[in-house]
This record gives sequence, C-alpha cells and structure tokens, in this order.
Amino acid sequence: METFAIFVFIISLQSLMFNVYSSCLHQSSSENILEDSSSFPCDFLFGAASSAYQYEGAFLTEGKGLNNWDIFTHEYPGKIRDENNGDMAVDQYHRFMEDIQLMTSLGVNSYRFSISWSRVLPRGRFGSINYSGITYYNRLIDALLSRGIKPFVTLNHLDYPQELENRFQSWLSPEMQNDFVYLANICFKHFGDRVKHWTTLNEPNQQIILSHLKGTFPPSRCSLPYGNCSQGNSETEPFIAAHNAILAHAKAVHIYQTKYQEEQKGIIGIVVQTSWFEPISDSIADIEAAERAQAFYSNWILDPVIHGKYPKEMVNLLGSALPRFSRKEVENLKKSRLDFIGINHYTSYFIQDCLFSSCNTGDGASKVEGFALKLNRKGNVSIGELTDVPWQHIHPQGFQKMLNYLTDRYHNIPMFITENGFGDLQKPETTVNELLNDTKRIQYMSGYLDALKSAMRDGANVKGYFAWSLLDNFEWLYGYKLRFGLYHVDPITLKRTPKLSASWYQNYIGEHLRSRYH
Ligand code: NOJ
Repeated sequence: METFAIFVFIISLQSLMFNVYSSCLHQSSSENILEDSSSFPCDFLFGAASSAYQYEGAFLTEGKGLNNWDIFTHEYPGKIRDENNGDMAVDQYHRFMEDIQLMTSLGVNSYRFSISWSRVLPRGRFGSINYSGITYYNRLIDALLSRGIKPFVTLNHLDYPQELENRFQSWLSPEMQNDFVYLANICFKHFGDRVKHWTTLNEPNQQIILSHLKGTFPPSRCSLPYGNCSQGNSETEPFIAAHNAILAHAKAVHIYQTKYQEEQKGIIGIVVQTSWFEPISDSIADIEAAERAQAFYSNWILDPVIHGKYPKEMVNLLGSALPRFSRKEVENLKKSRLDFIGINHYTSYFIQDCLFSSCNTGDGASKVEGFALKLNRKGNVSIGELTDVPWQHIHPQGFQKMLNYLTDRYHNIPMFITENGFGDLQKPETTVNELLNDTKRIQYMSGYLDALKSAMRDGANVKGYFAWSLLDNFEWLYGYKLRFGLYHVDPITLKRTPKLSASWYQNYIGEHLRSRYH
C-alpha cells in the first residue's frame, strides 16, 4: 500500500513538473521552430515599451537640457492636436516605482525605455555630463532588476539636445555621428554592467520621413510638394539624415563590440518601423512596386547596417541624391554587425505601381518614396479592418508575412518585436469607460500574437515581444488624444487604471510563459 502511495505521489509530481515545463519551450538557438502551438521559448521576453519624451516629463528637472521636442511643442503648440507637450508627460521620472509595480502585476519580464539624451548630456558633447540624469537611470535599472524585469534600452528615441540642431542641424551633419557615439559610450560605461539589451536608434526610417521629407516633426524641414516648410529639401535631405544615422549606429555598435561586449556580455541592435506592403494586383509592376516600397522604408536602413549597401531599388531611382558609403565605411558597416533587429509593426497597405503606370498622387507615389502608392482599399475590399487612425489597419497576416520576409532577406537574424499595439483615438464624446473596456485592443493584440506564433513556426527567429505601450502617453502630433496604453492615464491626476487589455495581457503572459523560474 505504502509503495503504491509513493508511486502515485511520484507520478503526480512528474505530471505537475511536466505541466510547468511544457508551458514554455526550452529551445537552442539552432532550432527555432515552435513545435507546441501554445508556447514560446522559456527565455522569450514579454514586455511593454515606452520612450523618454513620451513618458518622463520633468522637462527641466535636475539639470535636464532642452531638446528638439521641448522647443517644437513650445514654439508651435498648434501643431499638436490638443496643443499639449511632454513637459509633464505621464511623469514617469517621479513615478517609476509605481509603474514598476504595474509591470510586476502584468507579469512582464522586460521593460523597453529610452534614454533622454538631453537629461544625460544637456548640451551634447559641448557641455558636461548631468550626473542627476545618470542617477535617475541607475535607479530605474536597479529597481527593474530587483523585480526580475530586464531593462531593454534604446539609446535614442527621437529626442536630442536642441544645441545639436542649433550648432550643425543635427542629423544633416556628420557631426551628429560623433555626438551619438559620445552618448552611447557614456551609457555603455555607466549602465552596461546591468543592461544586457541595447538598441541604438528608434525607427530612423519613419522619423526621418516625418522630420525631413514631410516636415511634420522637428526640425520641420521639407520642400513642396511633399510638405509645407520654410526650409529644407525633401528630395535630398532625408537621405543625408539617414546616411548619418546609419553611420552613427554603426559607430556605436563598433564601440560596444570592441570596448564593452566581451566583459558586459550584452547584445545590441537597431529598431526600424515596418509595414507590410501587399501588391494590389498580380501584375509584375505592382509586385515590383511593393518591393520598392519595402526598399524605401525598412530596407533603407536594414540593408546598409546588415549588408553594407543601400537597396538596389533606391540606388537605381535616386542616383546622386543617395549618398555613397566610402570603402572604409562599407568595411566598418560590415565589421559592426548587429546582434538582432528590433521590429516595430502596426499596419499593412496595398501598393500600386506609379513608375510604369499612371497613378493618383498620394502617400508613397513620388520618387522619394519609390513610386509605390499606399492604399487602404482595393475597390471595396480593405486591406484589413480600418480604424479611426488613418494609418492603422488591422491585418495580422501582414505581420506574419513581414516577419517571414525579414527572416528571408536577413538570413534568419534574431528579432525582437520592439513595438506592436493599438491606438484608441479619443473623440470629444468618448467616455473613460469606453477607453477602459478596450476590447478592440485585445482583438488586435491577440490577432498579432497569433500571427507572431505562426511566423515563428514558419522559422522566424523572434526572441521577444513588447506591447506598445505600458501606459497612455504623449503620442507626438496626436498629443494625449491617441491612447496606446494597457493602463489608462487620467490627464489631470495622472492616475493609472488598468484597462481590460492589461488583465488580458497578464493572462496571456501567464499562460504562455510560465517557466520553472517563475
Ligand atoms: C512608433 C514610435 O516608436 C512610438 O514613439 C509611437 O508612439 C508609436 N509608434 C505609435 O505611433
């Protein structure tokens, strides 16, 4: 009888252990095929993402200098939908302990945040380090780690000291490369003993289209007919700015890999914005146009940082407007190979050819975006469910296709999904209850996570997923009226309240990532 009881006890223990073990998959880097459709690898990062200007506030606190977004939002409040700015944002600078508590209850194992450049270096290379800024990030990193949350740090997410704009027009000058490396070196030195995941720049492709092609983001540079700015040249400047950003990235990676990586044992990558571009018809012209759309968007940045050259579609169409890499720069690009790519992904479009066919004017139709018109609809069929936000179309299959495309083009490179999420546009009649009952966000995230799993089963080497965003925050030109948070933030009190999606994400993580370490 006794032996039988021991036998039953052992069997139940084994099955208990099997359940715990089987809820996530132990996987070696060589086998990245998911066999169990319900699970992610045990070391998979499930996180939430943020950025300094959109979250921190404290815009003049403890030595921070003014940055490009401080100046832009103060000088032109009318350019922001609710005439607001990031002076206070969601005050994470003062409330990070409370926010870490929210992360703990969500069950995330990583938090993506960025360094406010002008908090650490108020005047770039031209002044001294602001040690209060260093202390702030040290406290944030330590507090995250003490709760088992890995810091996933972006060196630069759109904001830079205004002094760099005033002195040499920021990304239009190669000087910016030196400034960026200066910042990167300081961050690796002060934080790299604890930060094991670094990304250099956030979405240079999308940022530069807005800042130097359409001119809607600072420094508001563009030319007609692309946008209405008092200075700039949309046909040349975006490519100069991106060139400097690519070289700045490569220099930062080089410093990390030669000076820090061996000892600190972290990894480093870059973040690009991606969209899936579906040819609107089976014609060769539309298929090639969809490929050109990719070339002029994410491949613009990824091809040089991975393969050391611009996509051939850009070289062919842009001619001398596209800067060239010197032989030494090509060598450096190839030498400073990144460890992973960060993928921000929100939407898909149909693409129609405008190179060989006549076309309406519209987004993407011009030479500087590859003569590839972006459309929401083909006749009366939309690319996915359309939303209140003109650029957000719910089309998870596009995400799967995008990840397979990247896997193929960049030879199975490791990827982190550094942003994916759904924005609720707040109208005058929207109630707080409606914002809290965010079933559309749940539908969106669950569709995109299913697509992610399918892509991983197809072979995509994805190592983590970050929801954009932990909290409602300052959404650039939309101000606080476009809300991406899993937590609602009251505009007056800044009180954080979980939305339905927060408990949904918490359950999702719990079900998919329970490992024996948790
Ligand atoms: C990407 C950007 O990195 C982030 O700053 C922005 O808030 C989200 N997209 C949503 O638009």
